[in-house]
Amino acid sequence: MLGGDFPVLIEEDQIQKRVQQLALRISQDYQGNDLHVVGVLRGAYQFTQDLSTKMALPHTLDYISVASYGQGMTSSESLQLRMDISKPVAGKDVLLVDDIVDTGITLNWLVDYLKRRRARTIRTCCFLDKPARRRAAVPTDYIGFPISDVFVIGYGLDYQEKYRELPFISCLSPQEVLI
Ligand code: PRP
Repeated sequence: MLGGDFPVLIEEDQIQKRVQQLALRISQDYQGNDLHVVGVLRGAYQFTQDLSTKMALPHTLDYISVASYGQGMTSSESLQLRMDISKPVAGKDVLLVDDIVDTGITLNWLVDYLKRRRARTIRTCCFLDKPARRRAAVPTDYIGFPISDVFVIGYGLDYQEKYRELPFISCLSPQEVLI
């Protein structure tokens, strides 16, 4: 079992407690507004679902997908829209939900994209934040956990498309995966 092979950095119950706190804060902040949540696939699939189900506020939900990492462990600046939003965001208060903000290039690109699609307001909610690796200035309105520069897997985050299903956050060091 992977949990025995790799260190558990953030336990499942810690994750769920933090998501509950974020959901409460977001529900309070958007009280009286029509909140439109846009989850960033594929990494944010678990986080978006957990956050959405814990919110005490009716909201609409959509997904978008862009590619940034490819198969490796480092970020790439060449982004591609893999799947567009299914409903217009014009005039909506959008909460963009992603699993991790690393260089910030993906979120920066997405915020710009949704601005061009005339969203009324855009805020971001990221489960993990790696501020040490930031290369693009991007607003981080709601953050689950800030982390140091380690390669993390689980709770939606993958290494070569594996380990997304883990309900906790673990890590792989470059030495371990390159042997
Ligand atoms: C990951 C992650 C973020 C992005 C963060 O997505 O889910 O969207 O990279 O990196 P950045 O801040 O350096 O731009 P990835 O492209 O790996 O696709 P995935 O969600 O399908 O795993």
